[in-house]
Amino acid sequence: MATLPKVELHLHIEGTLEPELVMELARAGGITLPYRDADELRARYAFDDLQSFLDIYYENLVVLRGRGDFAQLAHAYAARAHEAGVVHAEVFFDPQAHLVRGVPLVDVVDGLVDGFEQARAEFGITADLIACFLRDRPVTEALTTLDELIALEAPIIGVGLDSAEVGNPASRFAEVFDRAKRAGLRSVAHAGEEGGPDSIRQALDDLGVERIDHGIRSIDDPLLLSRLADQRTRLTICPLSNVHLNAVADIASHPLPALIEAGLHVTINSDDPAYFGGYIDRNYDVVVDAFGLDDEAVAALAHNAVDASFLPDTRKREIRTRIDEWLSVPESGAVPGRLRW
Ligand code: ADE
Ligand code: ZN
Repeated sequence: MATLPKVELHLHIEGTLEPELVMELARAGGITLPYRDADELRARYAFDDLQSFLDIYYENLVVLRGRGDFAQLAHAYAARAHEAGVVHAEVFFDPQAHLVRGVPLVDVVDGLVDGFEQARAEFGITADLIACFLRDRPVTEALTTLDELIALEAPIIGVGLDSAEVGNPASRFAEVFDRAKRAGLRSVAHAGEEGGPDSIRQALDDLGVERIDHGIRSIDDPLLLSRLADQRTRLTICPLSNVHLNAVADIASHPLPALIEAGLHVTINSDDPAYFGGYIDRNYDVVVDAFGLDDEAVAALAHNAVDASFLPDTRKREIRTRIDEWLSVPESGAVPGRLRW
């Protein structure tokens, strides 16, 4: 059965650190961990909310110390993403989470580039990097991190904003995003994951971002919904993440169908697949099953991601053709269903 070609736009490379790789890197680096094996670590992956996940996510980073570790992480994600049909990914990384541990930024960036270059040669998958600022850390730290990225001429295409949303308003980071834009960078921000509609408005109005990561709480505000539909704001939705972090009660009550009905431009992504039970293919599968999407609806979601990407037009055209080829082959995978465009 052919695999739908996909573009992934919401993926934290640190969130692809599988328990087996945590153990392997710990062993290789002589790092002692408080659990015996990967199963024991995985058993801790039951989260109440975003913060309880972030606590473990940051804790596990202790095993990422050198350029080679980051290369291995990037390559492992790219290999798995390739299997899932991903042909291009715009990949988040958290520079501050490594800088505060004393890991030089150049090693993080060079390692990720090494891993993705190797994967491109092997699988043809392409990746661009987006540096995210941690909204629960000082703005001054975000500014110096941005300056360091620019001074290094790090090959990033844009900046993002992530970590704990509630209590850490996006508006504080206006100067950071302004400086990034003046440096020619694209911009995105997490908003409306746990925070309400105002959090989304701040990301749009105070940071001027081009995409909203998550944005599911826009469903609570009809005025905001109309605005997002009218201005074609792209949302990067992560269904399994929302379920695992209790942002929604279960997949059946996810607002995805309602957002589509409201005319929003939504995409499907995996967020932190090592923690939330699956990569992008599984995220597509769960929404196909839960909402009875037919092949055309699934291809429309894949097209949305191409449109929402920061890729040049030539590459967008190439991927659109591959999606249309997938759709033209009968029995390509998704079940016939109700939800159509
Ligand atoms: N960092 C990694 N995953 C995240 C998420 N789902 N929300 C906010 N920050 C994150
Ligand atoms: Zn995220």
